[in-house]
Amino acid sequence: MERREFKLTDWQFSKDKENWSSVSVPHTWNAVDGQDGGNDYYRGTCYYKRTLDLVVQNGEKIFLEFDGAAMSAEVFLNGISLASHKGGFSTFRVELTEHLKGSDELVVAVDNGDNAIIYPQKADFTFYGGLYRDVKVITVPKQHFELLKDGTPGIKVTPIVDLKSKSATVTVETWQNDESVTITVNGESREVPSVGGHAEAVFKIENVHLWDGVEDPYLYSAVAELKSGDKISTRFGCREFGFDSEKGFLLNGRVYPLRGVSRHQDLKGKGNALEKADHERDIEIIKEIGANTVRLAHYQHSQDFYDLCDERGIVVWAEIPYITMHMKSGRENTLSQMRELLTQCYNHPSIAVWGLSNEITAASVVNEDLLENHRLLNNLCHEMDKTRKTVMANVFMLETDSPILEIPDINSYNLYFGWYLGELEQTDEFFDEYHSKYPERIIGFSEYGADSNVAFHSSNPEKGDYTEEFQCLYHEHMLNMIENRPYLWATHVWNLFDFAADGRDEGGKHGENQKGLVTFDRQTKKDAFYLYKAAWNKKESFVHLCGKRYEKRAEEETEIKVYSNQDHVSLFVDNWPEMELDGSTVFTFRIPLTAENGGVHKIKAVSGSCTDEMTIIKVTKPEESYVFNKAAATVNNWFDAVENDPTCFSVADTLSELRAHPQAGMIIEQMMAKASASRGDVAESVKDNPALQRMMGRMTMLSLLKQSGADEESIRQLNRVLQGIKK
Ligand code: GCU
Repeated sequence: MERREFKLTDWQFSKDKENWSSVSVPHTWNAVDGQDGGNDYYRGTCYYKRTLDLVVQNGEKIFLEFDGAAMSAEVFLNGISLASHKGGFSTFRVELTEHLKGSDELVVAVDNGDNAIIYPQKADFTFYGGLYRDVKVITVPKQHFELLKDGTPGIKVTPIVDLKSKSATVTVETWQNDESVTITVNGESREVPSVGGHAEAVFKIENVHLWDGVEDPYLYSAVAELKSGDKISTRFGCREFGFDSEKGFLLNGRVYPLRGVSRHQDLKGKGNALEKADHERDIEIIKEIGANTVRLAHYQHSQDFYDLCDERGIVVWAEIPYITMHMKSGRENTLSQMRELLTQCYNHPSIAVWGLSNEITAASVVNEDLLENHRLLNNLCHEMDKTRKTVMANVFMLETDSPILEIPDINSYNLYFGWYLGELEQTDEFFDEYHSKYPERIIGFSEYGADSNVAFHSSNPEKGDYTEEFQCLYHEHMLNMIENRPYLWATHVWNLFDFAADGRDEGGKHGENQKGLVTFDRQTKKDAFYLYKAAWNKKESFVHLCGKRYEKRAEEETEIKVYSNQDHVSLFVDNWPEMELDGSTVFTFRIPLTAENGGVHKIKAVSGSCTDEMTIIKVTKPEESYVFNKAAATVNNWFDAVENDPTCFSVADTLSELRAHPQAGMIIEQMMAKASASRGDVAESVKDNPALQRMMGRMTMLSLLKQSGADEESIRQLNRVLQGIKK
């Protein structure tokens, strides 16, 4: 008898076990309040219920499978608790067989409330609650493959490639409650004994067809079958990953720089209750931009998405949500989430590294408990997987001689110089310093990005203005920085898509992190998206005119930027003579704007058969709606004009200079406390981080205030007060 599976989609849902409404699973109760700002989305326990009319026949066994219940769940049948699970991103199963009466009431209590044992508890994304992935009934014969342990697929495939002999040794392990199992790989079948519920067979593939990244992601399959008829299968790929502190990442023996993006699993209006089509659309966008890697942050994603990465040859960074703040009582949960991640995702050829944690020192000091937690996670990964490296994504304030960096096999840093603080060039300096100080260490760039709202535009873009133009400048700098540092094993833009972070309220949007290269609804590819497409996608010829949404321009002359993967671009403006440029990726033209024809200018970019068009209009006064940080915009002009008394303090002094003075220092402390409150609970928790304070200390008060959106009047006022304090 083959195993049978079917989904349970129709459920009753309630927040109080009184008022019930019909919902369809996958479902989350935060699809709206988790995306609208205010950091007030409903976090707590909610209930899903339905009846089951399952009859056990012929000694078969019946299980329930939950692919994603966030953030923890308890399963009741006829009021009896059968099982509970802590962790919102991995599969768990419950056996029902002995408890079924033929018509049974199933209730699942799901909780996404605050607590001190289940990760994540502090991070820059919405912790959606719900049965947000499929729930299935699985019926198997009496003798069946393992289903309960860590949500296992019951089969584990370890392919070891020998590039010289172009062969692969493939070890297949299965777990079952039967005497023997027949395993088939590449058309070769073998029956092997099961000892203590475990069976193993080793196959040799000559002239192996490698899983070779985006060029040729070839997949094999392994099938295991029991005499009872239970049958399982998995796909696998034969590839070899290499890491070198000078060459970076290697795929199948050749240098293969991983250049890509990060992704969260949510969507405008749907939250994290995504369907297969949503995953397929996202992988198409990753293909279009030309990325060869994706960091699936900050937790285990849907099996559908790992499958798509296997099929498309996208190398994956997989991780658990051990993030921002270390919790003494959270150790067991990090280990169980890691055990489940490795057990459930081990067979995916696309996965190259296991991420132990993300910015865990942002709101926590590096103490023995934190270090030990990482050592245990690192050891667990190495015990369960001899073939992959472990990695950490470190917060940019973490000292590069911190002992925690010694624990994982390799490291990467999240750097936000030129956005959160400091200047873009500090990124270049950071890696140059790091690489010269630790030439033997393998280092990567796990996050970098700048928020942009497609409604905001400027011809003088600057950090903190949330314009599309600044996001382009930011990424042009980073692309160049990366291209000149080939030793970076992987780089991941934060983020491919805008995503929900209900604690945020900035950049003209509520509850959204806008560092995406594509908007949250997947409808708009921001201009910066095409910068990376021009640099990475060498298959699909195109030209892209930037600034289509920056239609109205109040200036005599304006910049027209074209991103293209071609090496020659022509620009046609109205019926003026053709302008041409040779180059790569970024082509920048400047054109005069005249008031002729109502100031309307038709612009066309051409390269071979590729074209793109837009219209811009010369206007007399700047378009107000293009400017977010109205305060910052005026501040520029005002401050440049002011004559300050140099013997007294002013906002032109750095934070550490002001802090060093008792009177000026006190004033500053009061302001800082207020400023960080608006950046959500993550900023609140990191503000006291000593390394961050050192970095901020080097910044002028003016750039810090502009960064935090302070308006002109309050900056004037502070400057007046500081001008009253002698140095
Ligand atoms: C951090 C963090 C992300 C966050 C990002 C940001 O580095 O890892 O989860 O979204 O910064 O502030 O945009």
